[in-house]
Amino acid sequence: MAPAQAASRVPPAFVQPHAEARRLSALRQESESCERCDLYKNATQTVFGDGAQAARVMLVGEQPGDREDIAGRPFVGPAGKLLDECLHEAGVDRSLCYVTNAVKHFKFEPRGKRRIHAKPSAGEVQRCAWWLGGELDVLRPDLVVALGATALYSLMGRSVGLNKERGHILKTSSGLHLLVTIHPSFLLRIHDHQDRDAERARFVDDLRSITHYLK
Ligand code: URA
Repeated sequence: MAPAQAASRVPPAFVQPHAEARRLSALRQESESCERCDLYKNATQTVFGDGAQAARVMLVGEQPGDREDIAGRPFVGPAGKLLDECLHEAGVDRSLCYVTNAVKHFKFEPRGKRRIHAKPSAGEVQRCAWWLGGELDVLRPDLVVALGATALYSLMGRSVGLNKERGHILKTSSGLHLLVTIHPSFLLRIHDHQDRDAERARFVDDLRSITHYLK
């Protein structure tokens, strides 16, 4: 599939000011004491990206959930399990990808003993682009996969609509190839079985494009 040209008014995360380091390990260590916004106050820890510095494909989600906050690794909870299954069906080996989030701390509302996911604000996403930009700069991946609207916003600002570009690979002015797709938690929220199966098949189809970048 030929990449479409993205008309981006807001620069992608990696042309904005960002953390600078030669190694991911240095960025990760620096991010552990991040206080760029208030989210660190209630979260257990910073959940930095996971994967090899040599990975050619980067997957970007929204923010760590309850399980990720405790484990300190992205996409290890229910949405991560579903992502793993869909990647597998699409013929993609997750261990060859670098997996991260637009926001590195868990944002939640306490409800009794439970911690309920809360959507990060635009300001929190922008502050955290400091780390995403740093990860992009170190990895220089051949393909970035935006999983859902928050990742897409962090990477492209408001210039690209998820529904319009869903399934497309955009080529940004900085040469970055960007696959636009949904967040796997969207599938977890669909109650009708038929609808869920259809959306899941579409998601797997989107993910198949990744295989061309792993050869
Ligand atoms: N959802 C995300 O966007 N990221 C995670 O790491 C887990 C759930």
